[in-house]
Amino acid sequence: MNHDFNVLNQKNYIPNEARYTNMKYRRTGKSGLLLPEISIGLWHNFGFNDNFENSTNILKCAFNHGITHFDLANNYGPPYGAAEITFGKIFKRYFKPFRDELIISTKAGWDMWAGPYGNFGSRKYLISSLDQSLQRMGLDYVDIFYHHRPDNDTPLEETMGALDHIVRQGKALYVGISQYSAKETKKAAKILKQLGTPCLIHQPRYNLMDRWVENGLLDTLDNVGIGAIAFSPLNQGVLTNKYLNGFPKDSRAVKDGRYLKVDQINDELLLKVKKLNDIANSRDQSLAQMAIAWLLKDERITSVLVGASSSNQLLDSIKALDNKEFSKEDLSEIEQVLKD
Ligand SMILES: NC(=O)c1ccc[n+]([C@@H]2O[C@H](COP(=O)([O-])OP(=O)(O)OC[C@H]3O[C@@H](n4cnc5c(N)ncnc54)[C@H](OP(=O)(O)O)[C@@H]3O)[C@@H](O)[C@H]2O)c1
Repeated sequence: MNHDFNVLNQKNYIPNEARYTNMKYRRTGKSGLLLPEISIGLWHNFGFNDNFENSTNILKCAFNHGITHFDLANNYGPPYGAAEITFGKIFKRYFKPFRDELIISTKAGWDMWAGPYGNFGSRKYLISSLDQSLQRMGLDYVDIFYHHRPDNDTPLEETMGALDHIVRQGKALYVGISQYSAKETKKAAKILKQLGTPCLIHQPRYNLMDRWVENGLLDTLDNVGIGAIAFSPLNQGVLTNKYLNGFPKDSRAVKDGRYLKVDQINDELLLKVKKLNDIANSRDQSLAQMAIAWLLKDERITSVLVGASSSNQLLDSIKALDNKEFSKEDLSEIEQVLKD
C-alpha cells in the first residue's frame, strides 16, 4: 500500500477537463490579470472546527467550475490563521500541480497577534504577517496581497510602501486594498503608481442591501483603472431563501453568530427578503443567484466573492451566471422593495 499521502491524493484528484468552458473571466481594472466572474472566499467554513472533507470539496467544486480565485486573510478561522493552514493542507494534497492556474490572495490589517505589531497598517505588521501567511499556506508567493482596511493613524505612504516592498521581494505579484473610501483609494492609488506598483484591485463589501460603493467608490475605481471584487454578495446568507422559514441549525447566524447575529435577521428584514425572493423566482432564479447576477450586471465589478458552507451551495450560486440580464421592471421592483 502506498503511504505517501501527497502522491496518493494528487492522483485521486483530476479536475474537470471542461472547467474553463462555462466560466467567464473579466479584466481586473487596467491590468493584465483576468479573474473569474465568481471567486470563492475562505472566511468561514475553513476553520479548525469545520469538516476538512467538506472544505476540500468546496475548493475542488470551485476549481472544477473555473473558479480560479481563492481569497484568504491572515485571521480567517477560527482560530486566526486556521483557514490558511487548512488551505495549505488542501493545496499540498490536491492543488499543487495547478498552482499556475490559481490566483491566491491573502490580507493583513485587522487584529492578528498580541502586542502593537499585529494589527492596523504599519510596515512592520504587513511584512511579517505575509511571511507568516506564506508559511501557513506552504506557498512561495501569493498572487494578491491586500491591506485589509484603512488605518488613519499610519501614514498612507508607509502602508503603500510596505505593499510595494512586498511585490519587490517577490512575495506577492499584485497588491490591493479593502474597504478604503473613494478618497483614500485615490490617494493610495497615486502613491502606489509613483512607487511603480499599481494598485490592482479593491475589495469592498457590496450587495443589494449594502450600497455604499455606489456613492463614488465604483466611479473612482473605474476612472483610476482598479478592479473591484465585491465581498459578502449574499449579505452573509441573508440574501438567500435560507431564513424565510426559521433559523436552520447549520446556518451562519445560528452556528457562528460572531458576524451575523440571529437578532439582526428581524421580521422587517425578512419581509424584504421574501419580496426579493419572489422577484428572483419570477426570473427562474434562486435569490442567491439573483443577488450575484445583480452585482455582475455592472461591468465595473470584476468578480463576485462568494462564501459557501457546502459544494451544493456553491453549485447553486454558480448558476447565477446563466441569467445576468435584468429588465427595467425587474430593477425598479428590486429598488422599490429595498426602499420600502
Ligand atoms: N475584505 C474584507 O474585509 C472581507 C470581509 C468579509 C468577507 N470577505 C471575503 O468575502 C468572502 C465571502 O464573504 P461571505 O462568506 O460573507 O459571503 P456571502 O456569499 O455573502 O455569504 C456566504 C454564506 O451564505 C450562505 N450561502 C452561500 N451560498 C448560498 C446559496 N446558494 N444558498 C443559500 N445559502 C448560501 C452560506 O451560509 P451558511 O453558513 O448559513 O450556509 C455561506 O457561508 C469571504 O470568504 C472573504 O473571502 C472579505
